[in-house]
Amino acid sequence: MKDVLEQLEAKRAAARMGGGEARIAAQHGKGKLSARERIELLLDDGSFEEWDMFVEHRCVDFGMAEKKIPGDGVVTGHGTINGRLVYLFSKDFTVFGGSLSETHAQKIVKIQKAAIQNGAPIIGIFDAGGARIQEGVASLGGYADIFLQNTLASGVVPQISMIMGPCAGGDVYSPAITDFIFMVKDTSYMYVTGPDVVKTVTNETVTHEELGGASIHAKKSGVADGAFENDIEALVQLRRLIDFLPLSNRETPPKRPSHDVADRQEPSLDTLVPSNPNKPYDIKELIEKVADEGDFFEIAPDYAANIVTGFGRLDGQPVGFVANQPMSLAGVLDSDASRKAGRFVRFCDAFNIPIVTFVDVPGFLPGTKQEYGGLIKHGAKLLFAYAEATVPKLTVITRKAYGGAYDVMSSKHLRGDVNYAWPTAEIAVMGAKGAAEIIHRKDAADPDKMAAHAKEYEDRFANPFVAAGRGYIDDVIMPHNTRKRLISALRTLKNKKAENPWKKHDNIPL
Ligand code: HXC
Repeated sequence: MKDVLEQLEAKRAAARMGGGEARIAAQHGKGKLSARERIELLLDDGSFEEWDMFVEHRCVDFGMAEKKIPGDGVVTGHGTINGRLVYLFSKDFTVFGGSLSETHAQKIVKIQKAAIQNGAPIIGIFDAGGARIQEGVASLGGYADIFLQNTLASGVVPQISMIMGPCAGGDVYSPAITDFIFMVKDTSYMYVTGPDVVKTVTNETVTHEELGGASIHAKKSGVADGAFENDIEALVQLRRLIDFLPLSNRETPPKRPSHDVADRQEPSLDTLVPSNPNKPYDIKELIEKVADEGDFFEIAPDYAANIVTGFGRLDGQPVGFVANQPMSLAGVLDSDASRKAGRFVRFCDAFNIPIVTFVDVPGFLPGTKQEYGGLIKHGAKLLFAYAEATVPKLTVITRKAYGGAYDVMSSKHLRGDVNYAWPTAEIAVMGAKGAAEIIHRKDAADPDKMAAHAKEYEDRFANPFVAAGRGYIDDVIMPHNTRKRLISALRTLKNKKAENPWKKHDNIPL
């Protein structure tokens, strides 16, 4: 018996070494942790239960029969984060460059199926060279099997991808289907085809970083929802994010006791909006002053900064915040902002997370660049997302709510449950000057007349009371009471029941 136990221990020890000491040292040399070190850091101490550590590939081509490493390039299993179950897979770059074989894919699919069945998030840690070149089509099939499970899991359990090394070719599409992608600066990159292929096909010369580094995807393409300084920071922040999320769509998000009193007043909010309507202010200040203990986990902070999205808590209850940001492009809605916020709203709705929207939006961004880029369809994504969402929806208009953007930003008309405005709100078809120029075109040559027309329009609409008079706004509230009013509104929505008509699925304007 003792021999068998020792054999098992030896086998386990060998599997845990992955591609061996030299390759682990090389991994460290590049500033990266190993697949197992990442798991250890992410999960609660001692909670990791590994599956399939003895799985090996079955490839016999290109001399592979003699090259077998237990685990086959991916470490899979489950564990807990602050006591809550998660399933995960972590690609091991030290084993065949983390490349995906048929059996490697089967290990991941097993984890995905268990997570869907048992209702727990799936975390994928990527650091790999794509399809196992020696396996050919078996590898392609393996990828498709993973993509299918990613798709089936979407909206059922949260899926989060951590890009912590190369992520190329087949590896990119699994993260792309997941809810959030985070990258590590300088050590990770993501692209469909690498710099060599780019050079051959388009004759462009680019580096890995220029083509798909964290700086590109977190700021320019919007593929990534955040970029962290190193592996440790990324994993610590992932633990923080998981705390806001339910384990599956069968649960409500985890409430936790808050030490921040529900009726806390914030007098500084009374002067947050500058008296000059063209002067910006930081909408994050409002979010942080309203949220429990000022705790705000921002999603995609560096992409489409004209809209802010992220998680916080009110009265211990996780909520998703969406807010126009006057500090960036005056808070206008453009294609990128619409896509970013639309996706975030849909995530919240899928996972029973109430949505709190702060509105200060001068409208949609005009111009050929936006129109040629499909602003109509992209703007409609955000509109669609808010309209279909049945979770509690709370809205506060702080200043501008102009034109179509007023409708889109969780208005009463899109089933906003409780819609408030600050006394500084201006709810109108457009700004006073623009409105006067259109309806009094004949007076365009007379600046005095035009100023008077603008003033008339402003007096009529640069306030919340016309909308409040129609019931589009439930109340005009004191800015310093915003937290208190939101929390009491949220409490009334605890048992909210709202349903959409039956359908196989919707057809969001993609
Ligand atoms: C098999 C691979 C591999 C792969 C890397 N390795 N990628 N083995 N299949 N795809 C092995 C290497 O042979 C090497 O083995 C070890 O992993 C480390 O690789 P290095 O090249 O030494 O590392 P590095 O210099 O850091 O470069 C990393 C890399 C590079 C940029 C990722 O390895 C690379 O370009 N790999 C190929 C990427 C690729 O084209 N993949 C296929 C994409 S097509 P030893 O034994 O020497 O340590 C695809 C299509 C699927 O994925 C589509 C499905 C939808």
